[in-house]
Amino acid sequence: MKTYKINLIPGDGIGVDVVNEGVRVLNAVAEKHGGLKFQYNNLPWSCAYYLEHGKMMPADGMKILRDCDAILLGAVGFPGVPDHVSLRELLLPIRTGFDQYVNMRPIKLLPGLVSPLKNDKIDFVVIRENSEGEYCGRGTSDENGAVQEAVFTRKGTERILRYAFEYAKANGMSRVLSATKSNALNHSMVFWDKIFNEVKAGYPDMDSRQMHIDALAGFFIMHPDRLQMVVASNLFGDILTDLGSAMLGSIGISPSGNINPEGTYPSMFEPIHGSAPDIAGKGIANPAGTFWAIAMMLEQLREKPAADMLMNAMCSVLKAGVATTPDIGGKGTTTSMTDAVIAAL
Ligand code: NAD
Ligand code: IPM
Ligand code: MN
Repeated sequence: MKTYKINLIPGDGIGVDVVNEGVRVLNAVAEKHGGLKFQYNNLPWSCAYYLEHGKMMPADGMKILRDCDAILLGAVGFPGVPDHVSLRELLLPIRTGFDQYVNMRPIKLLPGLVSPLKNDKIDFVVIRENSEGEYCGRGTSDENGAVQEAVFTRKGTERILRYAFEYAKANGMSRVLSATKSNALNHSMVFWDKIFNEVKAGYPDMDSRQMHIDALAGFFIMHPDRLQMVVASNLFGDILTDLGSAMLGSIGISPSGNINPEGTYPSMFEPIHGSAPDIAGKGIANPAGTFWAIAMMLEQLREKPAADMLMNAMCSVLKAGVATTPDIGGKGTTTSMTDAVIAAL
């Protein structure tokens, strides 16, 4: 019997619901598989924790968090604590502190999903830089104005671009598209483009292009079938992936893997959506993004058959379309959808 230790950070709002249901599904996968077991450490770090303790996680939080095989996170942020405080004290320090510099976000119209677009050939991956760029947090502000800096190091830029090309090559893709904005961002994105051109020279068989982020956003809607691999900076990748998940019918669908490729630190898996205060407590959060994130986690733990088992069960529930949540046209709840996935398993 193989046992994995999973650190859970349910966080805030619907993050708590989707992680609770995610654990039920993960246990069902383990039972069905027969050779797997999961041990959980449920960490209460959240905005509620902040209001009680004055911080989002304890001083030794990163040490506690490191001791595991993977981290499953729901969502962080809730009215009552400023978003830049909650996210900059919990989610973002984990991504940078554990050098999870690859953020992998698959955008795929799974069987049963209905895209709001006419063109429904949607199957691509966004690889987002996850450790620096526009999220470096540097700058100044006072009454008279604000300056927000961005940091693009050679090391950080080169490794993410190379990762995207290697991933594309390993997964039979023939096209890599880099998101830029070098017409206006005369330092950061000109540098990004320069490194892109250097890296792409090593992949002569790949159709590699760059596109300005504004045009690329339009391209997502008009020609999603031509996308295979999209590589983007931290901020651009963030925005493009909410767009991407919406192209699948709901931002509750896409998953996000925060990967430390070297395995020096644990990787972290989460849905791409946030804590959704507008529907929190209503029991209607779509758990698909979390289930898909769990499948990514299983794959990263080299438990591919278990990951496939879960994705197949979820797809059959999406196809039936009965127990699913209202955001994708179903009549169900977070719990009914989870029950259906467990039954399908
Ligand atoms: P959001 O993703 O929470 O919600 C945007 C819209 O999508 C809302 O109308 C919401 O109801 C809907 N939605 C989101 N997830 C859904 C799901 N699973 N099922 C059905 N509908 C869903 O984005 P927001 O409103 O910009 O942010 C809310 C809070 O979450 C903020 O504090 C923000 O900073 C935080 N946030 C956290 C994360 C994270 O922890 N990874 C990600 C994004 C936003
Ligand atoms: C995401 C979220 C975060 C991000 C926020 C909450 C800081 O939007 O994971 O996509 O921008 O990375
Ligand atoms: Mn986002």
